[in-house]
Amino acid sequence: MPVTCVIGLQWGDEAKGKLVDLLTDEHEVVVRYQGGSNAGHTVVTGGQTYKLSLIPSGILSPQVQCVVTGGVVLNPASILQEIDGLIARGIKVDSNLMLSDRAHVIFPWHIAEDAILDKSCSSGENIGTTMRGIGPCYRDKVGRSFAVRLGDLYRDDFRERLNHIVDAKNATLGVLIANPFSAADIAREYTGYAERLRPFVADTTSYLLDAVEAKKRLLFEGAQGALLDVDHGTYPFVTSSNSSGAGVSSGSGVPGRWINKIIGVVKAYSTRVGGGPFPTEQDNEIGQHIRDRGNEYGTVTKRPRRCGWFDAVAVRYTARLSGVDSLAVMLLDVLSELPELKICTAYEIDGRRVTNFPSHVDDLRHSKPVFETLPGWQQDITKIRKMADLPQAARDYLARISQLIGRPVEVVSIGPDREQTIFAQRTS
Ligand code: IMP
Repeated sequence: MPVTCVIGLQWGDEAKGKLVDLLTDEHEVVVRYQGGSNAGHTVVTGGQTYKLSLIPSGILSPQVQCVVTGGVVLNPASILQEIDGLIARGIKVDSNLMLSDRAHVIFPWHIAEDAILDKSCSSGENIGTTMRGIGPCYRDKVGRSFAVRLGDLYRDDFRERLNHIVDAKNATLGVLIANPFSAADIAREYTGYAERLRPFVADTTSYLLDAVEAKKRLLFEGAQGALLDVDHGTYPFVTSSNSSGAGVSSGSGVPGRWINKIIGVVKAYSTRVGGGPFPTEQDNEIGQHIRDRGNEYGTVTKRPRRCGWFDAVAVRYTARLSGVDSLAVMLLDVLSELPELKICTAYEIDGRRVTNFPSHVDDLRHSKPVFETLPGWQQDITKIRKMADLPQAARDYLARISQLIGRPVEVVSIGPDREQTIFAQRTS
């Protein structure tokens, strides 16, 4: 397929990195278009594990062009660390990586503000951000006055702009920060980063528009999951970008008319990191079993993830929202050995049964999941390579998910390795 998108349909961490890695060979360009170093992708290939954050996992294939677009917020120190780490392991990172001059830059005050704001969320419950300065950087982007884009670092007036921003930040943050920021120190630090990043900086919007018009095969790699979308997710317990399919065009500049196929990625169960309602959460031995079996600890923050049953109400909503053509169901092996499995098919809110995902977080908080119980399978499925060889109970479980979401299951993952993947059917 010329232009494919991979979108997480839950609260992130759906193992999108593995799917992107599997699809990379069929594409020439891999694009990261929203979020920042709050995301973490783990790719296991050739017996090696790579943990990537800002750089698309396509970087592991030297023939692929990797593009980080203007919709991303970029911490120069983090991306340089990633680049250095990859080069040290023998991975090619030069002209195969392009960073948009429109990407907004994260500064130390964004990280400080993240800590301050997360503590004072009005409902009393913390958002539980990754503390990477993502939200404050996006806020400055929308606010414009204090924003710096990557391309600005190379302009003659950069120091002057920085002086103005640092003065304003020191004045507004005042006693909330231990020490005021020094414009001179930050200018020195960021000018150094800018010099090292210079070979990668480009106008990625024109590059991508040329690429789609030339019918190049592009793969868009979403970060986080659609339930964390700032406009359509479980607001305010969301990230600050459009992490559903809605973000592809705004983040990259590539119009939706070029997109041929959208694959929605889900775990065979649900997880969530940070605060916010999670109707199917199992804060009990079942949740702990899933956490242990699935190694459900954050790639970026190492926080234990909250675990629960598959929520078909939420995923049906995000599959429709993201215009998904087919599903990739990841981590199915984690459910092996559980005697029975549950799928949430509806919510009960104040005595009413609903199948539409609530728009207000308080309604979601009061949603009681209506579960359907299915038999589990008590055998190791990690070595199975064909759909027909899966235990009947596993096939029934996948079929029910597909039916409830209204999309075919195209890929099933039964372990971290590339080989531990079943292509159930290609929809094109
Ligand atoms: P932020 O993106 O750091 O502002 O965090 C906002 C919310 O999104 C928090 O609940 C985070 O735990 C969550 N979040 C951000 N990035 C990811 C991710 O890559 N996976 C899962 N959750 C994430």
